[in-house]
Amino acid sequence: MEIDVFTLFPGAFEWFRAQRHVTAALAHGHGLACVNYRDHTPLNAGQVDDEPFGGGAGMVLRVDVVEAALTARYGVDPVLLRERRRIVAMTPTGRLLDDLLVDELAAEPALTLLSGRYEGFDQRVLDHFVTEEVSIGRYVLAGGEIPAMVVCDAVLRKLPGALGDETSAIEESFSRALDGAPEYPHYTRPAEYRGWGVPDVLLSGHHARIREWRLAQSRARAAQAGRESPPEAHRETDGGPLP
Ligand code: 6GU
Repeated sequence: MEIDVFTLFPGAFEWFRAQRHVTAALAHGHGLACVNYRDHTPLNAGQVDDEPFGGGAGMVLRVDVVEAALTARYGVDPVLLRERRRIVAMTPTGRLLDDLLVDELAAEPALTLLSGRYEGFDQRVLDHFVTEEVSIGRYVLAGGEIPAMVVCDAVLRKLPGALGDETSAIEESFSRALDGAPEYPHYTRPAEYRGWGVPDVLLSGHHARIREWRLAQSRARAAQAGRESPPEAHRETDGGPLP
């Protein structure tokens, strides 16, 4: 998997790049590169954004700047590029990121994430250069860098080699292996702490019974989550207006 992140703040990704599951993924041949829009702007003085037509607060990332950065990176008109590569714009109103979408993205050979700042992208970027918009939740952040990092984190840890234990990304919260249910609870030493114990079954060494207990816990948590927020948690995975 080759991930390219387009951003005005490539420095923001340095900490992320040093994380263990990321360095492990990179050591396995996966790639994570940042492209700075500012390095490719055709405008003077590194300009990348402009005032919105019609007035209003904030600045908008220019369509010509985004095109120049994409073309510099891929050497092809972005209008054609999007037919053969997933180009994801990070926007607060995009498709909500969930485990299903992460699996979908992790199955791609390559991925481009566009982060915006300010009031976001000129609409023509979204209409003509990208394949989709993705959001990490129904709230507004100042920029797309953290959301892009969230996507990279979630995708990279699904790839072979990213995690020490190859099975640990398979059976975790919201995964298909658990039927989309939350993961079961975990305990470690000490087995007794302030009078708080650990379920006996986990100390029994009886693998079949442990497995049965864990699946039951996972299902019980799913049922509990369902009672707490019935339709909400599973509703609308696409676009819709912000609340
Ligand atoms: Cl992808 N971008 C911004 N700016 N805010 C967000 C978001 C994205 N997802 C949730 N809030």
